[in-house]
Amino acid sequence: MTRSTTTTIVSAFIALALSPACTVIEPEVGERLTACVDADSNPNVKVVFKDQIRPLINGMVPGPKPCANCHYHSSGTREGLDETGFDLETLKALKLGGRRTFDDIVVPGQPCKSAIVQKLKGTYEGARMPKGGPYWTAEQIQLMIDWIAEGAVGANEE
Ligand code: HEC
Repeated sequence: MTRSTTTTIVSAFIALALSPACTVIEPEVGERLTACVDADSNPNVKVVFKDQIRPLINGMVPGPKPCANCHYHSSGTREGLDETGFDLETLKALKLGGRRTFDDIVVPGQPCKSAIVQKLKGTYEGARMPKGGPYWTAEQIQLMIDWIAEGAVGANEE
C-alpha cells in the first residue's frame, strides 16, 4: 500500500468519526413517514375493523409490537394508557382519544387529520407508535387510513 493511499484511508476514518451524523443524538422516535393521502386506496373493498385492525392492535399479527402491551387496562405495562389515558381496548374507548388527541384521534373521512394515523407514521408529537417498534408496515398503516377514509365504522365493543 502506498503512503498516499494510507493517508487517504486514515483521513476518511477521521472525517467519518467527526461527521455530525455520528455525533447528533436524538430521542428514539422512529422514522417519520410524512406523505399522506386521504383517498381510500381500494374503494371496492371495505376494511373491517374487528377482522383487520383489531388483530394488529392485539398482537395477533406477527411483526409489529402490540398496542395492547401499553394501552390496555387488562394486559401489559399500561405505560401508554397511564401517560395519556388513551385506551385501545374497545372501539368506543379508541374513539375517545387520549389527553392530547381527544376528538382528533379518528376524524371520519379524513385519515391524514386523524391523530392515530399521525402516531402510526411518527408525524404527531412524541414517539412513533408502537413505541420502540417494530412499527406497522406501510400496507398495515394503509388499512387504518382506508378504514378512516371509509367512515371509521364498527360497533362500540369491537
Ligand atoms: C411500549 C409501549 C407502547 C406501545 C406498544 C404503544 N404505545 Fe402508544 N403511547 C405510549 C406512550 C408512553 C405514550 C405517550 C408518549 C408519546 O406520545 O410519545 C403513547 C401515546 C400514544 C398516543 C397519544 C395519545 C394522546 O392523546 O396523547 C396514541 C394515539 C398512541 N399512543 C397510539 C398507539 C397505537 C395505535 C399503538 C399500536 C400501534 C401504540 N400506541 C403502542 C406507549 C406505547
